[in-house]
Amino acid sequence: MTRLKMGIIGAGGIAQGRHIPSFLELSGKVEITAVQDVNRDRAEEVAEAFDIPYVFSYYKDMFQEVDAVTICTPNKFHAEIAIAALEAGVHVLCEKPMAMTTAEGEAMIEAAERNNCILDIAYHYRFTPEAQLAKKVLVNNEIGEAFVTRVQAMRRRKVPGWGVFTNKDLQGGGSLIDFGCHLLDLALWLLDDPEPVEVTGRTYDRLSRTPGLVNDWGSFDHETFNVDDHVTSYITFKNGESLQFECSWAANIKEDHTTLTISGTEGGLSVYPFELYQAKYGALFDSSAKIREGEPEVGVVQAENFIDACLGRSELVVKPEQALKVTRLMEAIYESSQTGTSVKLNHRAEDAE
Ligand SMILES: NC(=O)c1ccc[n+]([C@@H]2O[C@H](COP(=O)([O-])OP(=O)(O)OC[C@H]3O[C@@H](n4cnc5c(N)ncnc54)[C@H](O)[C@@H]3O)[C@@H](O)[C@H]2O)c1
Repeated sequence: MTRLKMGIIGAGGIAQGRHIPSFLELSGKVEITAVQDVNRDRAEEVAEAFDIPYVFSYYKDMFQEVDAVTICTPNKFHAEIAIAALEAGVHVLCEKPMAMTTAEGEAMIEAAERNNCILDIAYHYRFTPEAQLAKKVLVNNEIGEAFVTRVQAMRRRKVPGWGVFTNKDLQGGGSLIDFGCHLLDLALWLLDDPEPVEVTGRTYDRLSRTPGLVNDWGSFDHETFNVDDHVTSYITFKNGESLQFECSWAANIKEDHTTLTISGTEGGLSVYPFELYQAKYGALFDSSAKIREGEPEVGVVQAENFIDACLGRSELVVKPEQALKVTRLMEAIYESSQTGTSVKLNHRAEDAE
């Protein structure tokens, strides 16, 4: 196989804005051969704009024309489409979050294993230069043993007023499942997949349920808004680490910011912007990194990792089992908020010994 034949399922914002341009940049190893969308007109427009030969009305008809698909539909359809593709022997790059529930995510992984196919989830924050640098610093043990992590994925007044982001039936949640999940995934990856044992969470929708909310990202109906716009959580891990988490689409704060900091026994780091905090020679040292211009776009790096994994040339960076852990944590955060109690997670039997 020289070039991977790629199909696009769901031809909306993320397909047009990230995946299709990324695959076009990598035309030496991938060709987009087909596109499908329940909105046939949109699929045809996209096919014409990006010179894609086949347009399908039903996604299963596409499988015979492709080696892999990229799933860019609302979250509700991720599992159903991914499993059908995998059962047809087609590799899958699925947009985040992996699925609506842990059970769906598990079924996706089983289908990938059963059919010996690649299943990748688009947690692209891992491919940002700052995150790659942080991973190297951690692997080289520059901050000792990590024990406290703080995550904030915060927007002041940016509830997405387009698409279906505020529709619980189609998306499963709001700010957590849309934005917070990226930082949760990044934190777990940087920490080397610690096993979560207990989760406390609270979700809010107070601002978005208020009529006439001042919002920078378009308008939405406050009466039908039924997802979270602000979420907090405290997660503890079997190895004693803890993670303080907060995300929001609509917080009354001074400005938007994305923060991920880790404190370890020998030092600490911040990912955005990348900084390293250490103590050396009897003094406190702060180092910052200059991210070089001309770094490839994260979407391209993500696409290349998926293509190379499909072609058997490299390992996936985002393992589906890791993406499943993010889904399990988000489910626990929502459950904790609903019940008002913490949620204990069953870790694997071998860890419990
Ligand atoms: N990685 C990121 O940072 C990021 C950013 C935005 C969106 N996303 C994810 O991408 C996915 C799509 O988001 P979007 O912003 O592109 O939404 P969008 O609304 O712009 O596009 C979704 C498209 O899917 C189509 N569609 C709906 N149901 C379908 C079905 N059953 N089969 C085929 N097509 C279907 C719609 O007609 C639409 O064209 C979501 O899972 C979202 O969470 C990820």
